[in-house]
Amino acid sequence: MDAEKSAAFLLDEGLRYVFSGALRVAAQTGVADHLTDGPRTVEHLATRTATQADGLRRVLRLLATRGIFHEDAAGRFHLTPLGEALRSDCPTSVREAMVFVTNPTFWQPVGQLGSAVSTGVPAVEQIFGRPLFDYLAANPEAAAEFDPGMAQYSQLESRGFATIYDFADTGVLVDVGGGRGRLLLEVLRRHAGWRGVLFDQHHVVARHELATLGADHRWTAVPGDFFDEVPAGGDVYALQYILHDWDDERCVRILRNCRRAMNPDGRVVALDTVLPDGDAAHPGKSIDLVILASFTGRERTRTQFAALFEAAGLRLTRVIAKPEPGWLSIIEGRPR
Ligand SMILES: C[S@@+](CC[C@H](N)C(=O)[O-])C[C@H]1O[C@@H](n2cnc3c(N)ncnc32)[C@H](O)[C@@H]1O
Repeated sequence: MDAEKSAAFLLDEGLRYVFSGALRVAAQTGVADHLTDGPRTVEHLATRTATQADGLRRVLRLLATRGIFHEDAAGRFHLTPLGEALRSDCPTSVREAMVFVTNPTFWQPVGQLGSAVSTGVPAVEQIFGRPLFDYLAANPEAAAEFDPGMAQYSQLESRGFATIYDFADTGVLVDVGGGRGRLLLEVLRRHAGWRGVLFDQHHVVARHELATLGADHRWTAVPGDFFDEVPAGGDVYALQYILHDWDDERCVRILRNCRRAMNPDGRVVALDTVLPDGDAAHPGKSIDLVILASFTGRERTRTQFAALFEAAGLRLTRVIAKPEPGWLSIIEGRPR
């Protein structure tokens, strides 16, 4: 690439956040829901989504450049296979998750990433005046978008874990920081001999989804603080998207609490990204910067996980890379 082409490339890259903004509009308006019966004019879509046709056309036109929607010669928009998951009723829907990842709660801190890089203090604390989970606990409206959005964001990974991990015939799974309980639901639905304990902060557990199992009562929901203690007697302690939120010292506290609470042959299973060495592209490298802006944690390498486990009295036994399309690895540890 010659120098001028490189300069133009960089400027175009600098506008990538615009694409996130357009995806957010598509998710918020639910425009994909109005394309399930075939292509529609933008005027029709604008009426259905209570938007202005001009602005909506410009948003859809940008998304169409990457195969999300397609504009035909007559100016009608089509839903493409890539855009399907923006529908609300699609089994792999990410509509709520999209509203969540493009939420100003994340977006604003990333806009001030430079201050986190200069000071080492998460930008969230400068913007909201306190750590993110404290802010969510004090702001039910923000939590009402965060918790279900997070659940949908990680659902693909939860399903993959429930499917590929070698659960024994019977056991107790403790989902530490398990949100509203989607991972537990996936495991209990697939493993009839397992029982589950959902553990999270009080205001999160209060809105759990485990009752969707109906008459199946193989679960309990326990509120608490994982820095104090976690429920005892589990065979597997799952930590999905937990360790990446916290600095090493606090991760070791969580892991030690799991180590102390588990049955003698118990396991800790962290579900997090494991960063590859070098320049290789990996979604974890983007998530890492959201974390840098918002929390004290980081995405980690295998060596860094091994060191955390070691400090908590655990031995890293294996790392199972998730098959596509997920990006979380299963990082397993047992008592030393
Ligand atoms: C990034 S979310 C992950 C949720 C869930 N594991 C998933 O994969 O969807 C982190 C979770 O940790 C919970 N959490 C944060 N601080 C906590 C604490 N001190 N004790 C218990 N849970 C906590 C949050 O409420 C939130 O549900």
